[in-house]
Amino acid sequence: MTQEIWSKVDEYIFDALIPADRTLDEALLASDEAGMPPIAVAPNQGKLLHLLAKMIGARSILEIGTLGGYSTIWLARALPPEGRLVTLEYYPKFAEVARKSIDAAGVGERVDIRIGEALDLLPGVEGPLDLTFIDADRVNNPAYFEAALKLTRPGGVIVIDNVVRAGAVADPANTSDEIEGLRRMHELIAAEPRVDATALQTVGKKGYDGLTIVLVTS
Ligand code: SAH
Ligand code: DHB
Ligand code: MG
Repeated sequence: MTQEIWSKVDEYIFDALIPADRTLDEALLASDEAGMPPIAVAPNQGKLLHLLAKMIGARSILEIGTLGGYSTIWLARALPPEGRLVTLEYYPKFAEVARKSIDAAGVGERVDIRIGEALDLLPGVEGPLDLTFIDADRVNNPAYFEAALKLTRPGGVIVIDNVVRAGAVADPANTSDEIEGLRRMHELIAAEPRVDATALQTVGKKGYDGLTIVLVTS
């Protein structure tokens, strides 16, 4: 039971529940053509982010890690017209590709792409936030979580991508900076009285990874 069946079932889910969307397909294509890595969230994960944003009536969203803007478009589409999304990206070239795709998706006015090291940009992000999607390097996830928490209103949500890394998070032999960053982040979440959280393992076209979902309770 591995990659082949995970991919088949993902295709089934996409066909069953996620209508083909030219704008989103084109965002992935533009990313590919620019030689960017194929590591955007899968369609069903993008839709999960979209639904979470809608469920909480999000009007203010922060994303850490734009890449080509694929998840950004899913999230921005959940916002009302006056809603705002700030997304942080290290590489100017990626931000440029994302800008075009986000504008082509018709949500450009809601999306502010800021270029630079996320740790440097975070102090300039204004709250209160309704939802944060952390999807960049895992090394700095503890700091990203702390920054997001400070900015998030009670009832807001923080979602973190890539928290399982094919099981490495639970492998004591793996003490890489990335995996230690994920563990430290979960320790912070567990010790934080203002939040409640869970994590899910995910399989699919994108392989074996996971998502952590945090509710800010007070
Ligand atoms: N959220 C995107 C995928 C993001 S991939 C989607 O699902 O469509 C991770 C992105 O984070 C990459 O574009 C990478 O350049 C960016 N990134 C990694 N480390 C970063 C850092 N320290 N500061 C800002 N951006 C960073
Ligand atoms: C990878 C996957 C991601 O979703 C991401 O945000 C960064 C890296 C990866 O598989 O390397
Ligand atoms: Mg990711």
